[in-house]
Amino acid sequence: MSAPWFVDAVFYEVPVYAFFDADGDGIGDFAGLTDKLDYLEWLGVTCIWLLPFYESPQRDGGYDVSDFKSVLPRYGTLDDVQQFLNEAHRRGLRVIADMIVNHTSDQHPWFQEARQPGSPMRSRYVWSDTPDRYRDARVIFTDTQDSNWSWDPVADAYYWHRFFDHQPDLNFDNPGVRDEIEDVIRFWLTLGFDGLRLDAVPYLYERDGTNGENLPETHAYLKRLRSMVDTEFNDRLLLAEANQWPEDVVEYFGDSDEFHMAYHFPLMPRLFLALAQGDAGIVVDVLDRTPEIPDGCRWGIFLRNHDELTLEMVSEVERECMWQHYAPEHSMRKNVGIRRRLAPLLGGDRRRIELLDVLLLSLPGSPFLYYGDEIGMGDEHLLDDRDGVRTPMQWEDSPNAGFSTAEPGDLYLPIVSSQEYSPAVVNVASQGDDADSLLHWTRRMLSIRADLPVMGAGGFLTIPAADPAVLCFERIAADTVVLVVANFLDAPVRCALDVDDPPTMVLAATPGASIDGSVITLDPYGWAWFSGSRP
Ligand code: NOJ
Repeated sequence: MSAPWFVDAVFYEVPVYAFFDADGDGIGDFAGLTDKLDYLEWLGVTCIWLLPFYESPQRDGGYDVSDFKSVLPRYGTLDDVQQFLNEAHRRGLRVIADMIVNHTSDQHPWFQEARQPGSPMRSRYVWSDTPDRYRDARVIFTDTQDSNWSWDPVADAYYWHRFFDHQPDLNFDNPGVRDEIEDVIRFWLTLGFDGLRLDAVPYLYERDGTNGENLPETHAYLKRLRSMVDTEFNDRLLLAEANQWPEDVVEYFGDSDEFHMAYHFPLMPRLFLALAQGDAGIVVDVLDRTPEIPDGCRWGIFLRNHDELTLEMVSEVERECMWQHYAPEHSMRKNVGIRRRLAPLLGGDRRRIELLDVLLLSLPGSPFLYYGDEIGMGDEHLLDDRDGVRTPMQWEDSPNAGFSTAEPGDLYLPIVSSQEYSPAVVNVASQGDDADSLLHWTRRMLSIRADLPVMGAGGFLTIPAADPAVLCFERIAADTVVLVVANFLDAPVRCALDVDDPPTMVLAATPGASIDGSVITLDPYGWAWFSGSRP
């Protein structure tokens, strides 16, 4: 049986509002996304992940939904979504959408009704007379919330929310909620989406005496959703957002009967930490600690996304080290994380950007690129919340970076203005004209990877290296092997690898990379992909 499509997929995460504004109102839209499909096809990504585009007061980037089956009018209409899907599919690109199952906006009509005394909607949310229930559940947005309960004077009760206080959690003990959410998923898959990323799935149920995460009831409901998707649709993807330890995340794959994919959250900060420390050991540790996942399931690997670079999955000492190294200014820190983009995090150093990108493309899982990182876009960390990593895509060196014809003051967020990252320095058009640009490098790497099925379905084995700065592993298929080596140090290395008969054909590498017997030589921050055949 051939592997499911998402095993070989390269995902590209993009908020509709940030990519291209076709109607000139200052905010990106579906027509704009459709206009830019040629670019994404040219780049070589294979699946687009759209952030929430539903009606919403937009107090949490659209993760505060007020109507699950609608399109925010500023982004276009349902017809525009359909048109976008058709055009993407015509080019062989797949599209998945974000879906928020844990909570709604407080502006959702369900919540507005539920607040009214005696309303039949009341039990669609979680209420209490005291803020003392479920004390063992942690507060997630610790920088803005001090409790998971907020008082509602109309309802004369406290309501439960795991995120912002304007995002009441749905009550999954209510059969109506379970049916409605299932129907929302059915609705978008019927329209033609190739899958859905289900947001914040660990928190669906609340139970006394537990921390309200990863509960059996939650898994049971998620399995029900999967069963519906398998019964009613073909070839669709359910992707879990569960920021948890690997041993807890694997539970979301079930017995190949829950999610097809889940992000590998603990791996991500360790790649940055290893780079800060010049020591790959911590990456090897987390990979060794990652359990096997069931057949047909897949990790999602990412470096950056629309949120802060979360540091929930590292120790306090490691977090402090990450903060000192990557977020020296307090304004760069957000909640338990860092609100910066990939290029500024890595000091704009092309060698370090390529090193992490190469690992993104070769670690066992499907890579998720974040829009703009392919050109090394910068951020505006002084903007509110996580807005600094959600600024308009920089297409060219022109007013508004070619993103929109609106007045600059009417853009949904300002264009990056710093000297190093402004559109005059970082944009698609000029990098498109330069064969040595990061954009062309990314495209070349995606193209090489596309010819290596072993990077998809292949097995994975870490290879001990004599120098702790070197990360080495193999991706293995029946008849091929790709050896991946990466030097986390800003100094050349030469060291022995504990591998017999290593492959020697260079697929891609930094200039000084070579292999002689089992001894590898790499430039500062050098890396290489070697391939060979296995009898
Ligand atoms: C996870 C999303 O990635 C994040 O952006 C959002 O703020 C939270 N869920 C809460 O909705």
